[in-house]
Amino acid sequence: MGTVYALVSGKGGVGKTTITANLGIALSQKGKKVLLVDSDIAMANLSLLLGMHSSPITLHDVLLGESSLQDAIYDGPGGVSFVPSGLSFESYRRVDSARLAGVIASVKEDFDYILLDAPAGIETNVMSALSAADNVLLVTMPISPSIADVLKTKIVAERLNAKPIGVIVNFVRNEKGEIMPDDIMKMLELPIYGLIPYDQDIRKSFMREKIMPTILFKPNSKGVEAINQIAEKLTGVSSTIRIKKQGIITRFLNKLSSIFKRKPKEKTLREEVKEKTKSVPEIDEDLPEISEDSIEVEE
Ligand SMILES: Nc1ncnc2c1ncn2[C@@H]1O[C@H](COP(=O)(O)OP(=O)(O)O)[C@@H](O)[C@H]1O
Ligand SMILES: [Mg+2]
Repeated sequence: MGTVYALVSGKGGVGKTTITANLGIALSQKGKKVLLVDSDIAMANLSLLLGMHSSPITLHDVLLGESSLQDAIYDGPGGVSFVPSGLSFESYRRVDSARLAGVIASVKEDFDYILLDAPAGIETNVMSALSAADNVLLVTMPISPSIADVLKTKIVAERLNAKPIGVIVNFVRNEKGEIMPDDIMKMLELPIYGLIPYDQDIRKSFMREKIMPTILFKPNSKGVEAINQIAEKLTGVSSTIRIKKQGIITRFLNKLSSIFKRKPKEKTLREEVKEKTKSVPEIDEDLPEISEDSIEVEE
């Protein structure tokens, strides 16, 4: 029985799609059976990065109930299997993302790892991806707003009974002012699964004439090396991620922590999702708001 991982973040542009593609191929290169799913059904960036955006049957057709998932699984690059998303806005608007969990559960037996490239945020489609996941990997940049955003997503994941297991910190530049890994761990109360440096070779993956994941054209790049370490951690080959200590937890982070650790009052969101199979409920109103005004920053 395979394990389903959702890669999530608070905002877009932190590297979820990039990491999903490269991590999936890294796991496949280690002999694992891997299914990547472009669950960002509005944007389909993973389909683009894997060069499979013009596939005839997509996740849209599956979520519309018009095709089976088996018919939407293709051989992707680097040995992975892949479910592309569609590009049609019309079909996207009609798609019922609440079907995702049932659809993914139907192929869990066939793979070791199923990675879901989730959309950003805490909207309906993200919640559908979280509902389909066993484990969650939070992706963040090493800066306060990104960590604050992903903390919100972590809380939503927990309320949907998807287990946040670790944090992947991307765009690490080791610059002054970055939040140190040790502090990120304390803040999110999760281990670090990877520290991926800012890497020109990764940046170029979407800019090449033939778009493809960096692991396929520059396997020795620093970014890919870090992603290979995440694959090793997931497969249990190695659990050592080198982390710099001695960071300072600022009052800013402590304040955020206390805002977020409030307990939810009512029934879990998963129960709500189960009740309403046709639509995933809005939850914004009972999550703590993070606005600049709600955070005191001590100079
Ligand atoms: N470690 C990195 N170094 C340099 N560029 C990166 C890195 N990770 C991602 N990128 C680039 O940042 C952009 C956003 O990444 P993407 O994976 O699409 O983020 P998301 O899926 O979270 O929106 C892409 O152009 C990607 O190539
Ligand atoms: Mg993306």
